[in-house]
Amino acid sequence: MSEEDRSSPDMGNLPVEMERHAGPHQDGCPFGEGEGGLDHARRWDALTDSGFLCSGESPDLTVEEGAREAWRESVRCIGRLHWQSLQVVDARLVTSPDSVFEVCVKHLETATNGGRIVPTQTIFGRWENPGQEIRIWNHQLIRYAGYRHRDGVVLGDPMNVEFTELACDLGWRPPSAPGRFDLLPLVIQCGEQLVVRELPPAAVLEVELAHPEHEWFEKLGLKWYALPTLSDMLLATGRELYPCAPFNGWYMGTEIGARNLGDDSRYNLLPVIAERLGLDSKRSPLWKDRSLVVINEAVLYSFEREGIRMVDHHSASREFLKFCSREEQAGREVQAEWSWIVPPVSGSTTGVFHQTYQLQARLPNFLLQQEPWRTPRGRDLLERFT
Ligand code: ARG
Repeated sequence: MSEEDRSSPDMGNLPVEMERHAGPHQDGCPFGEGEGGLDHARRWDALTDSGFLCSGESPDLTVEEGAREAWRESVRCIGRLHWQSLQVVDARLVTSPDSVFEVCVKHLETATNGGRIVPTQTIFGRWENPGQEIRIWNHQLIRYAGYRHRDGVVLGDPMNVEFTELACDLGWRPPSAPGRFDLLPLVIQCGEQLVVRELPPAAVLEVELAHPEHEWFEKLGLKWYALPTLSDMLLATGRELYPCAPFNGWYMGTEIGARNLGDDSRYNLLPVIAERLGLDSKRSPLWKDRSLVVINEAVLYSFEREGIRMVDHHSASREFLKFCSREEQAGREVQAEWSWIVPPVSGSTTGVFHQTYQLQARLPNFLLQQEPWRTPRGRDLLERFT
């Protein structure tokens, strides 16, 4: 799997993936034993896949147990040592878009906890039928807008261009002077309703980035938010599906310092940093590597300075190995996707690089979900509300 795929799963091979599922589906066995496990790279859809993903024979867990075990089984997550500390907010009785919005804002506030981040999951109503479906259309509760200009140049986060355009179509008005770090509104679907709501800035903790040695770094005007809260995944407990169940942990520095700010398909800042460092790409083949280290130093330093919880990739790697040995003691075989577990910088200096992993995802789990605006029912809603 390429670096790219780590943040944007490939839609291209969907038909193949669906075919691979024909077998276990017909047997009614959601675990696909001996089949390579559940397809964790596929985008699932509650409407078409509930029969496959849910069975009365799966253990009857409380939602809290289901959510914690789903984290424990998340094959792409290096932070799983902490799975038992997940705090679950039971919002299964919430049905109106305005209350979904309020509960999400509350999630941001309590999980951020002034920087002492608490891993939290808020679980809205389970999947019953399209008429009662709840979805948050955002990838994360907090994300920055991406504006594509006519010449193809993007201001902001290129990863969010499509969503930004969608939000605008639904009536969102970007700030009068659009910037690189404009908070996107939430797009919330409750059955037949689709609403757009702006987050109160006070609920979003952000960190301005500075470097402990390079004074010029602060002047670049970079920042990132403190709380990564995935809001588009499907919680599948084995018995039930929860298409709207946003959850957060805390950041590992490289997610921001290497990927979000460094990838050339994202903020693409390595050339900018290299220039400030006086590195000549023709004469120093390692200009990207040196620039990466500088951005990652800035990210770790800035979060620490503000007292915001974050883990560096070396500590995260050690914690993951500890998780693996605890799982072994508990008689469970860890399932993991190597290319996601190994950090994007200094891979071979981390212990996780030198391991191999089984990759047979099982339930409970958090699964990728079909983007709501690509499902027939989502397209209908879009037509009605744009
Ligand atoms: N990689 C994503 C981002 O940079 C966040 C994914 C979840 N990360 C986490 N530490 N829980 O925004």
